[in-house]
Amino acid sequence: MKKQFIRTLVLCIMMQTMIAQSIENTMHNLMPWPQKIENKEGKFIIDSNFTIAIQQKQTNRLYKASTRFLRRLSGRTGVFFDVGFPDQERTSASLIIKVGRKGTIELSEDESYSLTTKSNGILLESETDIGAMRGLETLLQLVTATTDHFYIPGVKIEDAPRFPWRGLMIDVARHYQPIQVIKRNLDAMASVKLNVFHWHLTDDQGFRIECKSHPRLHQMSSDGQYYTHQEIKDVIEYAMDRGIRVIPEIDVPGHATAILTAYPELGSKDTTYQVERYAGIFDPTLDPTNEKTYKVLEDIFKEISALFPDPYIHIGGDENEGKHWDENPKISDFKKEHHFTNNHQLQAYFNSRIQRILRKLGKKMMGWEEIMTKDLDTSSIIHSWKGVNEGVKPRHSLLQAAKGGYHTVLSNGYYLDLMHNVSDHYLVDPIPDDIALTEGEKERILGGEIAMWGELITTLTIDSRIWPRAAAIAERLWSPKEVREVEHMKKRLAIISFRLEELGITHIKNQKVILRNIANGYTIDALSKLTKVCQPLKGYTRNKGGTEYKSYSPFTLFADACTTDAPDALKFDKMVNEYIVNPKNAIRPLEAILNSWVRNHDELEILNSKTPLVNELLDLSSALKELSLFFLRLLEQGGISKTNYNEFIKLIDIAKVPHADVEIVVNDSFIKLFEFMKKNEL
Ligand code: ACM
Repeated sequence: MKKQFIRTLVLCIMMQTMIAQSIENTMHNLMPWPQKIENKEGKFIIDSNFTIAIQQKQTNRLYKASTRFLRRLSGRTGVFFDVGFPDQERTSASLIIKVGRKGTIELSEDESYSLTTKSNGILLESETDIGAMRGLETLLQLVTATTDHFYIPGVKIEDAPRFPWRGLMIDVARHYQPIQVIKRNLDAMASVKLNVFHWHLTDDQGFRIECKSHPRLHQMSSDGQYYTHQEIKDVIEYAMDRGIRVIPEIDVPGHATAILTAYPELGSKDTTYQVERYAGIFDPTLDPTNEKTYKVLEDIFKEISALFPDPYIHIGGDENEGKHWDENPKISDFKKEHHFTNNHQLQAYFNSRIQRILRKLGKKMMGWEEIMTKDLDTSSIIHSWKGVNEGVKPRHSLLQAAKGGYHTVLSNGYYLDLMHNVSDHYLVDPIPDDIALTEGEKERILGGEIAMWGELITTLTIDSRIWPRAAAIAERLWSPKEVREVEHMKKRLAIISFRLEELGITHIKNQKVILRNIANGYTIDALSKLTKVCQPLKGYTRNKGGTEYKSYSPFTLFADACTTDAPDALKFDKMVNEYIVNPKNAIRPLEAILNSWVRNHDELEILNSKTPLVNELLDLSSALKELSLFFLRLLEQGGISKTNYNEFIKLIDIAKVPHADVEIVVNDSFIKLFEFMKKNEL
């Protein structure tokens, strides 16, 4: 009995400690969450005496990274440091960085680090300088404040990535993105420990890289918007300085309109081509039976190989429906000659030719899942992207690839252009518990890549489509699988979102830029409030059929100002939940928000009377106003009468209709509230 009591007591104390620790841990706004973190006594106060000693001489990269660290730390805290640069000679300093060796920017390099912070100093230790750079980002995220000073709390962190491939793909073919946009996104990637920048450089809508051997490609197929070799080198150096690999993608044999605009003779159809201005899947396809196709591709890949140091080159390979192949008798004859019974086999032949070219150049092939055919060399990486929308089970190709001996990377579930809320992406695990793979097969799953397709983004909006959601996916790819608590993630993400601004990411401020354009010189308050309950249409419904928007259409619309995770919609849902639990206590805030939506519509009407771009938003805000008035009435009458039923259905049906490519996202909460109030029939 006594033993039992002691055991229970010990268990209770352990539980208490665990709870205390987890509460304390929630104080740290770290993302990605480290593998192991222990809170320690004491804190390191940031003052003007702050210094850094790097105990590794060969790495200029770490010297630059710690200098940037110093600037960010001083910028964040407003402290004027006496010493502005790290020192490679001194043995004592506020922050000592001990590094084993210079790392190589390649797949599976050691990125681990350990970090100990105490009141008298900080120690960052790592095998490679890349690990040290990851640790510096953690250290910056640890910075916190009391009312009168900034400090780093006492912790001991042991950290290393769960997956070696943690990527972000940016499509610059649909909309060109200037170098400074790429660079600021590389900074943001490094801040959340992403380590692969996949640069989707060509597609139907543009060929965005200078091609010296076939200059018509960039001259005729980029509208003058392409990267010179010098710019490419500059970006690669910038990325490598941040421990990020750069993988170029030249998408072939489909998605080839831009290539064929310059060199129509490589096409499968005897016609002329023009750079595509719409979005979608198009027919122009390289002719795999024409030797000149391989000659030109060899020249292109030769240039690419010389520019990009990474062993992998992405060849696209997606969404080739083979329509022009089927229409061409010469190609049909070729298939017969080679005993190919379908276009997939023909594409496999094409891929094998490309693979031969890449092998000669000392490169390995990566491609979207369509490249996986039975004879494909297992040195290739399969990029899994299809999901339920394509009638394919999500992750199906990932499993097939891993079982088939291929390394593989997951993008299904990480498509940011689908405009899903952050939790939808966050919970997608590359290796979920129920996956039927051996340990060896699991090891072939290298990680994941966030995909930012560019049809509906411009320089103005790209950051708000990538960030802050990409940070949550970065956590999925770095942190232990068990780190899955959505509310904790959201709380940290809200802070990380501001940290991203510190790096020049424009996701927050550009919303105001767009709204000021719409408001045309008048106050943006009412518009701003409306964005908080509206989200751009999900999936590909914003640009149904790919023809509502051309690549040169305006992307300065209300839909471009709206983001996922509309904050007031989330807030309202919480209020409704609280009301359901405790109507008496929660009625006031509910009434307040409903009243604010009523007033907001009135303000928007005033704005509409002054300027042209507001009119198409009135239906949205009027629907919200009418629903708000309706519920204010219900709350006042304390229940629902028979006549309210039809009225509610009518109002909610109106509110469900999207306008201006935007939908109100409070309807489900209204339905929940109505269902609850139904219990009180009058
Ligand atoms: C893709 O989304 N077409 C790879």
